[in-house]
Amino acid sequence: MSEKLDLLYQEFQQALCGSASRAETLDLKAGYLGSKGKLSSILKSLKDMSPEERKQVGSKSNEYKNKIEADISAKLQALDSEEISKKLEKQWVDVTLKDSNLDLGLNAAGYHPVTLVQREIEDIFSSMGFDILDGPHIEDDWHNFGALNIPSDHPARDMQDTLWFPDGVHLLRTHTSPVQVRGMESKKPPFKFIVPGKVFRAERTDASHETVFHQVEGMMVDKNITVSNLIYFMKTMLSEIFKQDVKIQLRPGFFPFVEPGFELDMYTEQLGWLELIGCGMTHPNVLRAGGIDPDKYSGFAFGMGLDRLVMMRYAINDVRLIHSADLRFISQFRSF
Ligand code: PHE
Repeated sequence: MSEKLDLLYQEFQQALCGSASRAETLDLKAGYLGSKGKLSSILKSLKDMSPEERKQVGSKSNEYKNKIEADISAKLQALDSEEISKKLEKQWVDVTLKDSNLDLGLNAAGYHPVTLVQREIEDIFSSMGFDILDGPHIEDDWHNFGALNIPSDHPARDMQDTLWFPDGVHLLRTHTSPVQVRGMESKKPPFKFIVPGKVFRAERTDASHETVFHQVEGMMVDKNITVSNLIYFMKTMLSEIFKQDVKIQLRPGFFPFVEPGFELDMYTEQLGWLELIGCGMTHPNVLRAGGIDPDKYSGFAFGMGLDRLVMMRYAINDVRLIHSADLRFISQFRSF
C-alpha cells in the first residue's frame, strides 16, 4: 500500500507537470483530493486495514495530501505569473525607443523668441530698479476685475472675453493687471515692478489674435508720481528695445483701473505710428483696494502686448506660430 501511495504521487507529479491551465490543474486536484479522488479512496480503505498498516498508510497519505495541496497551489501561482508575463509582453512598449523624426528640442540652438524679448525687457526694467513679479494664471474675480475698479455689472467686463471656470468665481486671467493688485497686497510703497506673463481670452484666432498671448504689466507707486514719470519710463524702455530714440504720443484711452487713461503710440521711420501700450495713472479706487492711501500716494500702470513686440522684432507675420511648438520656427531666433 505504501508503494502504491508513492506511485500515486509520482503519477500526480507528472500530470501536474503537463497541466497547462488553471482549469486543468483544478481538475487534477479534484482527481486526487476530491471526495471521489484517488487519494481519498485510499483514505476510505484505511478502515479495512490492520491497525499497524492503518497507522503507517494513514500518516503517509496525510503527508502526500499535504504535498499535493502545496504542489497545486505552487502550480496555480506559477500559472498566474506566467499569464501576467504574457500580458506584459504583449503590451510592452519600449519607452526609450528613439523616433528619429522626433526632435525634442534638446539640441535647439536658441530660446523661444518670446523668452528672448521678455528677458530683454526684464533686463531693461531691473536696471531701472523695478522688481519682476509673477502671478497665477488662474485668478479670481476680485483680482482680475473687482479690485481693478471693474464691478460685476460694469460693461467693461465685456471688453475681455473671459474664460470662466464653472464656479463662476475663478477664471483664466484676461490680463496681467491682477498682479498689480497682488503687488500692492504684498508690498509697501514706494515700489515699482513689472509682470511679464501669459494671459487668456476666449477669442477667435487669426494671424493677429490668439487665445493665449503675453503681456508685460508695470506699476509704480510713490509720493508725487505723475504722467511725466510714466512718459519717462515708457520712452526709455521703447528706445532700449528698438535701439533708437523713439517718439511717443499719448491719446485718451479707457481702462477702469486708470484715470486718466491713455493709449500710447510709438513712431519709427520704418513703421510709422503704432499703438503699443495701454497705460495711465492708477485710479484711487484701485490704490484703496490694494490697501494704499490715495491721498498720500499716487502711481502709474501700463500693460503692453509682448507678442506684438516679438513679431515686430523678428518679422513674424502670424501670432499663431508663437504657440505652434514647431521647432523649425522656434530654433531660428537669436537674441539681438
Ligand atoms: N490690462 C489692460 C489690457 O489688457 C492694459 C492696461 C494695463 C491698461 C495697465 C492700463 C494700465 O488691455
